[in-house]
Amino acid sequence: MGSLELNKAFGAILTAGIAFMMAGLVGGVLVHPHRLEHSAIHIEGVGAAPAAAPAAPEALPPLGPLLAQANVAEGQQLAQRLCASCHTFNQGGRSGVGPNLYGVDGAPHGHVEGFNYSAALKGKPGPWDDNMLNEWLHKPSAYAPGTRMAFAGISNHQQRANVIAFIRSISPNAPPPPPAEAPAATPAGAVPGGTPPATEQGSQPQQGAAPASPPAPANAPAH
Ligand code: HEC
Repeated sequence: MGSLELNKAFGAILTAGIAFMMAGLVGGVLVHPHRLEHSAIHIEGVGAAPAAAPAAPEALPPLGPLLAQANVAEGQQLAQRLCASCHTFNQGGRSGVGPNLYGVDGAPHGHVEGFNYSAALKGKPGPWDDNMLNEWLHKPSAYAPGTRMAFAGISNHQQRANVIAFIRSISPNAPPPPPAEAPAATPAGAVPGGTPPATEQGSQPQQGAAPASPPAPANAPAH
């Protein structure tokens, strides 16, 4: 290959390269490519932080049966161990980190005059009852989000019922406790509300049922 031909070949490569560059430049001027800021396809759970699922409040077992078999003395011991660092329980006892708790069951939320309650607790409507105390003592931060009571809660259902039974015992105005019978878990043969068991013979009249009354007179004059 002569030098002339080499020059030709070199020139051809150079021209092609320049043409290629120019094409890129002109193309870039004519068309304005946009880089996507976000992926056009959104796949749930990829890339973005997963949406926080609203924590469903844990359903507690009915308090009534637990309260019916609760042990007040054990509840008092637990309260001494778990609560006494912040609360007093005697009538007229002073408030510490937490308010005095004498008579709290049946009293309004934030029942101690002058205690610096959080808006979260003070804003709860109605007076305390056993079921509210149950929710509260299970998880204070869930019952009153933003509460100042720095206490995780009592997860054991019977222990919590024992503490509530103790609080009842120092609350002269406590409302009636929830029913001791769990509605769904009625043992066989039990007679809730005095209704006779369904196994009764059909021929026997039901206790308390009205005596068989004569049928309505068929020959009543039509009006
Ligand atoms: C670390 C301190 C602390 C501990 C431990 C604690 N509490 Fe409290 N408690 C508080 C504070 C503070 C408040 C007021 C909360 C607010 O205003 O949000 C409070 C409020 C309460 C209330 C509501 C009083 C009212 O007047 O409405 C009850 C009931 C209660 N506590 C029961 C208990 C029981 C029962 C225990 C033990 C199982 C316990 N607390 C453990 C600090 C504590």
